[in-house]
Amino acid sequence: MSELAGKVVIITGASTLLGQGIVSAFAREGVRVVMADIDVENGQSLADAMGDDVVFVHTDITDDASIDACIQTAVDRFGGVDYLVNMASTYLDNGIATSREDWLTSLNINLVGGQIFSQKIAPVMERRGGGAIVNFGSIAGKVSQPGRMTYSAAKAAILRITGNAAMQLQPQNIRVNSVSPGWTWSSIMKMATGDTREKADTVAAPFHIMGRTGNPDEVAEAVLFLCSEKARFINGTDIAVDGGYTALGPEGMEDAVAKLMA
Ligand SMILES: NC(=O)c1ccc[n+]([C@@H]2O[C@H](COP(=O)([O-])OP(=O)(O)OC[C@H]3O[C@@H](n4cnc5c(N)ncnc54)[C@H](O)[C@@H]3O)[C@@H](O)[C@H]2O)c1
Repeated sequence: MSELAGKVVIITGASTLLGQGIVSAFAREGVRVVMADIDVENGQSLADAMGDDVVFVHTDITDDASIDACIQTAVDRFGGVDYLVNMASTYLDNGIATSREDWLTSLNINLVGGQIFSQKIAPVMERRGGGAIVNFGSIAGKVSQPGRMTYSAAKAAILRITGNAAMQLQPQNIRVNSVSPGWTWSSIMKMATGDTREKADTVAAPFHIMGRTGNPDEVAEAVLFLCSEKARFINGTDIAVDGGYTALGPEGMEDAVAKLMA
């Protein structure tokens, strides 16, 4: 039996293709899952397909009362919470031309919401003797990308404050880490390519040492590991699940492009 069996996780932003990968991975390990998202239609149908140990709770992470209600539902339904995966996000970003309103909306969803969730979940995890939080960073928090400002700022901040949170939640025996995916086969990528994985992989190839986009379950494996006891001495750090995106220098990229053109 999996060491995670019987535990409880709240996953924000779970109503997507990437969400499906993370939710399924936890469910396979026997973890009971609360999916917290504003997208009711996709979230509810995924939860319905997963059975009684996965519930969808309409949750807006920019609203404190909504976060409180989600946590309460998890406690009422499953008896407590052991893990939190802060995955909810928005790609709202107009680069250098982003308005103040959009800056604040983006940071509220991409950065602040998850941190308020962590703050509120900590005492609940403490009642179970501790827990683990996994934040979602991104390659966008590490390198500059065209057209991006707000998203990159939020992701860079997440990478920084993951360590701060780890330090401050250690007394409650809560570890805090992050994963930083590269291009991953996800709802946005499915939409952008007209559901053509091959097209996504061809465009991604020169940027990733692995020469393709990542799978949701490959990101999920890292999230599960960070929650598990196998990661008991890993705290305040990031795992790059980016197929070598951030390890690749310009020469490597040139080489990959040359191979593609040959
Ligand atoms: N897709 C990629 O290639 C990629 C790469 C690197 C990192 N990531 C990260 O992985 C995570 C998931 O990415 P994705 O591409 O599936 O994103 P997405 O935009 O498709 O999904 C985000 C989810 O968050 C939900 N959400 C938005 N606002 C919310 C709010 N106020 N309260 C609750 N939920 C809210 C949305 O409804 C949606 O279900 C994000 O943190 C993203 O930054 C993705």
